[in-house]
Amino acid sequence: RIFKRQMQCRFDIDRLNAPFLAIYDSLIPTEEEKAKQNQLFTLLETLITKEWPDAQLYVYGSCGNSFGVSKSDIDLCLAIDVADDNKSEILLRLADILQSDNLQNVQALTRARVPIVKLMDPVTGISCDICINNVLAVINTKLLRDYAKIDARLRQLAFIVKHWAKSRGVNETYQGTLSSYAYVLMCIHFLQQRRPAVLPCLQEMQSTYSVTVENIECAFFDQVDKLRDFGSPNREPIAKLVWAFFNYWAYGHDYANSVISVRTGSILSKREKDWTRRIGNDRHLICIEDPFEISHDLGRVVDKYSIKVLREEFERAAEIMQYDANPCVKLFEPY
Ligand code: CTP
Ligand code: MG
Repeated sequence: RIFKRQMQCRFDIDRLNAPFLAIYDSLIPTEEEKAKQNQLFTLLETLITKEWPDAQLYVYGSCGNSFGVSKSDIDLCLAIDVADDNKSEILLRLADILQSDNLQNVQALTRARVPIVKLMDPVTGISCDICINNVLAVINTKLLRDYAKIDARLRQLAFIVKHWAKSRGVNETYQGTLSSYAYVLMCIHFLQQRRPAVLPCLQEMQSTYSVTVENIECAFFDQVDKLRDFGSPNREPIAKLVWAFFNYWAYGHDYANSVISVRTGSILSKREKDWTRRIGNDRHLICIEDPFEISHDLGRVVDKYSIKVLREEFERAAEIMQYDANPCVKLFEPY
């Protein structure tokens, strides 16, 4: 029932490896850009430690998890001992400090869902958001980065999927489609369930890294250098995986009953998560369990209209990968 149409891969799929890898290469930030990001980070860290000697500044999001394309903004988290009520005060003070140091477009958004200070560095041209005490994001950033070190195909696949999602307008949480973070988890899940598996499940292995944040124990195996050969029994190159990824989300996933779970390396049922009906604004039309905040469904932003958009886009991509003469162009055509 689930497998409406299980497709056989086209015979000439391997000729698409080189063009997909060329797209991947063109998206990777250069060493020069990485150096500029580090330069800005060091400047901000210096300014912050001068004012708050006990605070720590962390990178999270795509600049820290290795899934950042060229020209990404930097997401930073200031870890500081402060009551939630006083976060605004810190953000306003931080904005003052940054402004006095000639950073541009400095804005404290104290009323946003995630309060932040925004800024642009005129020297490097890089924009940056700084939030306070979002430590779980720093940890899930490490988890994603560690997964990326295990097998190069994860980073290749996720770059291509993110590029596709941005080109097709389905990477907009405010419009009911999915975050980049959700897409990377979808890629990790996909590579975990592939047979032979390309990725292990780090949270199911003996933990070598463990921290407790907001009463959540975050533990996983992080000695990923030891897992360098994990994916080698699976010899599928990138084009085949892109094909299979879209085929999976177009025709292989049971949207009515399944929750994807990177934490367990498996599929859970909506029933066991009690994600079977709409509660408040959470509709659970596509279910992606956060690896640490396991009550969070990253698909909760998806509504009855945008689920249709998303599924049509997965089907479009699957059809292109199956039949199109030039998928590497067609896939990324602006919507
Ligand atoms: N994040 C999270 N929970 C979410 C969404 C995001 O914890 N529901 C955290 C993750 O640490 C994620 C970071 O916020 O890495 C940034 O999220 P997002 O903007 O979706 O991802 P980026 O990797 O920064 O992607 P982009 O390159 O599109 O900026
Ligand atoms: Mg980001």
